[in-house]
Formats: sequence, structure tokens, C-alpha cells
Amino acid sequence: MPTSLALLVGLFLGLFIGRVLPSWLFGLSWSRSRAPIFVSRLSARKQFTLPDEDQRHRVLELLSTLSPHYTTECTRNSQPLYTQQVRERYVSLVGHRSPSASSSFFSSFGLGLGLSDPDSVYITPPREHKYFFAINLYNSFDVIPDLFATLFRVSAILGYHNVFVSIYENGSTDQTKALLRIFDALTKAVGLRVTIRTSTRTRGQFNHRIEYLAEVRNQAFVPLHELRDSHGEFFDTIVFMNDILPCVDDLLELIWQSRKNNAGITCAADYMYHPELSSPVFYDNWVARDINGTALENAPFESIFHDPDSSERFQQHLPIQVQSCWNGVAILDPAPFYTPPYVSFRMARLAEGECSASECSLICNDYWEAGYGRILMVPRVKLAYDRKVFDIIHPPRKNLTAIRGYVRLGGLPDNPSTDPQDRSWFGPHDRLFDPLESEELDFKPGPSHVWCWGWDGAGDIDGPDVDPIWESMPARSRGAEAVTVKHDRTTEL
Ligand SMILES: *[C@@H]1O[C@H](CO)[C@@H](O)[C@H](O)[C@H]1NC(C)=O
Ligand SMILES: *[C@@H]1O[C@H](CO)[C@@H](O)[C@H](O)[C@H]1NC(C)=O
Ligand SMILES: *[C@@H]1O[C@H](CO)[C@@H](O)[C@H](O)[C@H]1NC(C)=O
Repeated sequence: MPTSLALLVGLFLGLFIGRVLPSWLFGLSWSRSRAPIFVSRLSARKQFTLPDEDQRHRVLELLSTLSPHYTTECTRNSQPLYTQQVRERYVSLVGHRSPSASSSFFSSFGLGLGLSDPDSVYITPPREHKYFFAINLYNSFDVIPDLFATLFRVSAILGYHNVFVSIYENGSTDQTKALLRIFDALTKAVGLRVTIRTSTRTRGQFNHRIEYLAEVRNQAFVPLHELRDSHGEFFDTIVFMNDILPCVDDLLELIWQSRKNNAGITCAADYMYHPELSSPVFYDNWVARDINGTALENAPFESIFHDPDSSERFQQHLPIQVQSCWNGVAILDPAPFYTPPYVSFRMARLAEGECSASECSLICNDYWEAGYGRILMVPRVKLAYDRKVFDIIHPPRKNLTAIRGYVRLGGLPDNPSTDPQDRSWFGPHDRLFDPLESEELDFKPGPSHVWCWGWDGAGDIDGPDVDPIWESMPARSRGAEAVTVKHDRTTEL
């Protein structure tokens, strides 16, 4: 790149980061920020003018006030050092190089490149990273406002033009559909591409429970294949979400870890309230397996993992290689969807004697077999499904410096890296990053056996109903080849 052009790109990047990121990431009110206006292309042919910043501000306010809004406080009042770390960490995820956006940006400064057809203004742009969000909802009235507000904010960082959101809703009996229609209209108004589809099929039409659940998940992927077939559009990263309450930085960290590690599947850690223990416990142990193939426990922090090395990393909130996990949000490398063996969600092949595991466990197994067995759990990202757990796992940070006895607790006044609050399991959300959290993991081949507790759904039991077994894993997932990088998504991280 010529020096002058490089300088301009740097200037643009600086302006963008300085003006947009702080407000998006740290919950400053929108009215104080002056976000640049993106001009993006909704389809290959049509050109839309997007709303100005004032209109977007009103949309965000609407999004935030339609119903109680749990996640607005996530990143507000974060400690300054965390704010700075986050800004540096996620700068590489900022989508700003849409050819149309940058060419119009340049021309608005009188730097038009003298080309009349905007389509030909390709200053050899680096290809943008595109994200496909797939979301399954069912009776999710309570979480939709938060989900959309977070989507809206995350998309502003990744670039609206780089995001496609596919929502599949299956026969909700509450007002989910009505609420979805409102949000659909709002997000379309800012140029975020969203499709919302609603099912009319019920579980009764399927013989096997998992077959139905797999079908529901696959439906959210239909636009992925349609966009490939109709527009030749390919995505680089898939974000699959259940009805959870994620913060903006939760999603950014998962995406960052997924790309940094070229992971096939990356998940968070989800928590549910355990009334007898009066505390949240790890939830999705039907799917989660450690790298030895052993199930994780519905237990408090210190006893979730059986594998000793994984447990130690978990106590330190460091990313952990696992055999399988889902936990509310999963970031997927789309390569196995686009190329043979063309994975999709499925039920077990019962005729071949496969254990009747969750469709999410089976897709993890299929990723291993396809050579995408780099599966990662990110304990820093803690997710809740309701307000009660959300509040417990996101306590506000107290200023302890002024409190007597603080030094006795092991903290050094005004040294954020020695804050005793960060030693508790459910500490404040703005825990500083450990340098180890930025290191690429060393991925091992898969285990020989995986603990499987099947669910055929034949009787009335609302949970696994087949005797658990140690299921033998195919040779392909036990070899080094299963964890080599096949699709590099790390560019510039
Ligand atoms: C829709 O899917 C969810 C799981 O995603 C399931 O719990 C629910 O029963 C399904 N709804 C219907 C009407 O079958
Ligand atoms: C915490 O309180 C002390 C003393 O009251 C003050 O000097 C310090 O700036 C406060 N720290 C933060 C992060 O607000
Ligand atoms: C590791 O997996 C084997 C089965 O392959 C099992 O027998 C053993 O108990 C597991 N170890 C731990 C610590 O979970």
C-alpha cells in the first residue's frame, strides 16, 4: 500500500475506534457518541440509504425500553483498565472495510478515486469477516429485548454489513411472535439483515425427540444454504444462540477466542440456580464432556470438571479444550457445513448402534470426525437464562480501596490486578484479562471413549432415559489430524 493510503486507513481506523467503540462497548449513552454512518449493501443489486445516527439512536432506545432490560448494565461502570484491555483486544474484530463504506468515506473527504461506478472502487480491500447468527427461540418473550439489543450492539462493532441474523421460532404460546415482528422491523430499519421464520410443525410429527430438536436447529441454518446458492455468499463464522442473556463483551470474547484458536466449536459456560445449594451451578452437562470424555457436573465451580488439568484451568477462568459443549451459545467454524461431509444437526444413527445423545453432542462428534475437533470452552463468559442467576453472576464491583482491612484481604490499594473480588467464582464481570487468556491452546486428539447418556423419549421421562455407556469414538477423531487447523480464521488477530 502506498504510504499516503496507509495513513488514511490508519486515520479512518483511529476515528472509528475513538468514536464508536467506547460508546458501544461501555454503555455510554448513544446520544453522546457520534457514530459514523455506514452505507452498506443489502443485496448485490439494491442500494439502500441507511438511517442517520439520530434515527438509529431512537431505534436503540426503543429496543431498550420495550420491556425490562437486564443486560444494559453489563459493561457500564467497568473498571478503566478493563475498558482499555477490551478496546485493544477486540479492535481486530471491528468491521470497517466494507468497500462501499470506505469508498464513500473517502469521497466524503473529497478523496474520490475518480471512478464513476462505485462497484469498481475496490482498492484491493481485504475481505471482510462475515458472521451468520442462528437463533432458536421458544416462548422467549422475556429475553428477546436483551437479545436484540445485544445483537444490535455487537453488529455495530462487527459491521452491520457483515452480519446476517436468522431466527427460527417453533410454535411459541406466549407473545414471542408479536415481539419478534416489532424487533424485525426495527433491525431492518438500520440495515441489519434479519430473517425470522416460524414453524407450524409440532413435535408429534416426529418419531424421535432428538430428530425434532435437530430439525428445529437445522431450520435456523436454512438461510445459510440459501444465501450460498442464490448469492454465492459465504460466511466465515457462525454464532448459534439459545434464549440466553449475553453481554456485548461475552459475544466478542467468544468470537475472539474462536478465531484466535481456529476452533471448530467454541462455547461459554452456562449456569442455572440450584435451590438446594442456594447457588448457581453449571447447567448443560447433558452435552458438555471434558477432553477425557467424562461428563461435566451440575455442581458448584470447584467440582465441575473431573479431568484435573481442565479443572485447574477452569478455576483460573482460562479457556479449556473439551470433547463437546454447547452451553447456550456456540461459535462454529462453518467450513464443515459448506464442504464434505456436510454436517448438520441430526439424531443418532440408532441402526448402527450409535448412542442417542443430544443433537449438540452429535454435531461435536461429527466435527471431530470431519477434522474440526478443536473444541473450546471459555469459562470467562458466564451465561444465565433468567434474571435471578444473571444478577448473581454479574455482581457490581465495589471500590474496596476505601474499606478498612482491604490490605489484610490481600489487595493492594488501587492495584486492580490484586482485587480480592476477582477471586470469587462469580466475581464482577470486568475481571482483568490474564495474559494466558490470549495464548493459543495446544489441542490434543480426542478421547477413545465418551460418556453418553441417551434419550429416546419413548416413555414419559423428561430427560435422558437410556442407561449411560462409555461410547467408543471412531479412529479419525483420535488422531492428530482431527485437531490440525484446516480453515484459518485468525487473520490479523
Ligand atoms: C420448541 O423447541 C423447544 C426446544 O428448542 C422445545 O422445548 C419446545 O417444546 C418446542 N415447541 C414445540 C411446540 O414443540
Ligand atoms: C476508590 O476509592 C478511593 C478512595 O475513596 C479513590 O481514591 C479511588 O479513586 C476509587 N477508585 C475507583 C476505581 O473509583
Ligand atoms: C477417563 O476416561 C475413562 C474412560 O475412557 C474413564 O474410565 C476414567 O474414569 C476417566 N477419568 C476421569 C478422571 O474422568
